Amino acid sequence: MPAQREAEAVPGGVAGRGAGAGTRDTGIVARGVSRILPGAVPVTLVRDIDLAIGKGEFVAITGPSGSGKSSLLYLLGLLDLPTTGTIELDGHDTGAMDEATLAALRLGRIGFVFQFHFLLPEFTVLDNLLIPMRRKGGQPLERMRHRASGILAALQLDGEAAKRPDQLSGGQRQRAALARALANDPDYILADEPTGNLDTQNAAIVFDILDRLVRQGERTVIIVTHDLALAERTHRRIHLVDGRIVADRAA
Ligand SMILES: Nc1ncnc2c1ncn2[C@@H]1O[C@H](COP(=O)(O)OP(=O)(O)OP(=O)(O)O)[C@@H](O)[C@H]1O
Ligand SMILES: [Mg+2]
Repeated sequence: MPAQREAEAVPGGVAGRGAGAGTRDTGIVARGVSRILPGAVPVTLVRDIDLAIGKGEFVAITGPSGSGKSSLLYLLGLLDLPTTGTIELDGHDTGAMDEATLAALRLGRIGFVFQFHFLLPEFTVLDNLLIPMRRKGGQPLERMRHRASGILAALQLDGEAAKRPDQLSGGQRQRAALARALANDPDYILADEPTGNLDTQNAAIVFDILDRLVRQGERTVIIVTHDLALAERTHRRIHLVDGRIVADRAA
C-alpha cells in the first residue's frame, strides 16, 4: 500500500493516491455472468452480464425494484458466485480463488455498503469500523482509532461513535455503514442505495464523499440508486431490467 494512503486519515483527503496505484490494475470485469438460484422453480437473478468497470470510474446502477441490482452488486463485490461466467478483479479470475483468498480480497480491497446496512448490532459505531481494521491488521490500534475517527467526522458521525446501531437514526445507520465500508481504505467501493434513507443534505454529503474518493483517490465507486438526479452526476449509468443490462451510458 502506498505510503501516502497510509497517512490519509479522512477518505478523499488531500493526500490522494498518486503513482502508487500501479499499472496492472484493470478494474472489475464480468464475462457472461448469470446467477441462477436452484430450486423447484429456479430463479434467475442476473443473466448474460458482460461488463468492464475500470479504475477510477464512478458508476450508477439503476433499474426497477427486483431487476437484479443488488444481485449484480453482490457478484461484483465477490459476495456471491456466478452460476456461469467469470468475474475478474484486476486481471485475476476470482472463480479460481479459494474462500480464504476471496475473503482477504473483500476485506482489503472492497468496501461494501449493504442495502440494509448490516452493522453489528452489539458493537458501537466505532467498533464497527475497528473490527474490519483489526482483522486486516498492519497498523497500531491508535492509528486505527485515529483513522476511524476521521472517517466518522467526514460523515458527520463524530457524536455517534459510542452508540450502538439501534441508537442511531436510519440515516445515521446508513452513513455508519458507509464509514465501515471505508475503514480499510478499499480500492473498490460498492454501495447499495447509499443515500436511500437520507434527506437531501445528508445525501449530498454522502455523494460528495463518494465523488471525492473517485476524483482524488482514483478509487472505483459503484452505487445502486433509485435517485436519478444522483445517477446523473456519476460518470456512467448502467440500467438493468429483468436481470439484464439494457443500457450502459457514459456521462
Ligand atoms: N433468495 C432469493 N430467493 C428467491 N428470489 C430472490 C432471492 N433473492 C432475490 N430474488 C429475486 O431476484 C430478483 C432480483 O433481486 P434483487 O434484490 O437483486 O433486486 P433489486 O434490483 O436490488 O431490487 P430493489 O430495488 O427492490 O432492491 C427479484 O425478483 C427477487 O425477488
Ligand atoms: Mg436491491
